[in-house]
Amino acid sequence: MNSLYDMIFKRKSFRRFDDSLSLSMEELQNIMQHLNKLLPLIEDIKIKYRIVKREETTCKRGEYCLLVYSEQKENYLLNVGYLLEQLDLWMASQNIGVCWYGMGKPDVLKYHGLYYVIMLAFGKGRPEEFRKDYVKAKRKDIEIIWVGKQISNVTNIVRFAPSACNSQPWRVVNENNHIRIFRSTEVGSIIPKERIPFYNSIDMGIFLCFMEIALRHGQYVFKRIVCERQKSDAEQIEIARYTIY
Ligand SMILES: Cc1cc2nc3c(=O)[nH]c(=O)nc-3n(C[C@H](O)[C@H](O)[C@H](O)COP(=O)(O)O)c2cc1C
Repeated sequence: MNSLYDMIFKRKSFRRFDDSLSLSMEELQNIMQHLNKLLPLIEDIKIKYRIVKREETTCKRGEYCLLVYSEQKENYLLNVGYLLEQLDLWMASQNIGVCWYGMGKPDVLKYHGLYYVIMLAFGKGRPEEFRKDYVKAKRKDIEIIWVGKQISNVTNIVRFAPSACNSQPWRVVNENNHIRIFRSTEVGSIIPKERIPFYNSIDMGIFLCFMEIALRHGQYVFKRIVCERQKSDAEQIEIARYTIY
């Protein structure tokens, strides 16, 4: 199987799905099995997944939607972003097109005592429909998101993480291989102001997933600390720290 690192270059948000394609039962079962292999960012947060037909939600694209339900513990949104991005990348390796779908509403908001968080719309894609030239994906310049020494094959790669409305809230400061990851609260996007902490926290979990995939690919040995939740009116909120050895 292609590594998740390689899928960073292949994945993209699928917004058009070919209705003549559909996922087989076997493919759906593989997805369900794969859900158990996703590694959490935070161990003790209960999570459940449901896969429903797209028509059971307000989503307008894809054949199915993966709905995620979580305990609302500290940093649960980071955890959801981190988990589902692994799935997004893995699905690209299976030629399954995915779109994170923050706008969607599911049929059921509470499931086994857990709260609905977000959905991924997905459906079968053709290999040629995936991203061909990742450099052309619209992203902020490195200078905006990264301060301090750059890490080859990491700095330039992590910025391709997907985010709500492409808001790219991540900011990184590298001081002698102590990497501090922040969420900027001044992203200037069309997301309603009161919803920004919600979506951008999921985005930050996605970014941490990209960060670790890139670091591992570069064979860096690292330790990660997830920061405790902080006041959300600061310009930058510290999310996590990595120490590279
Ligand atoms: C948390 C989150 C929510 C998103 N919600 C939507 C959405 O509701 N509708 C949509 O079309 N795209 C949505 N997206 C996709 C982003 O717009 C997309 O990731 C971003 O523009 C970057 O493009 P790319 O994924 O093709 O690299 C969402 C992405 C994330 C991470």
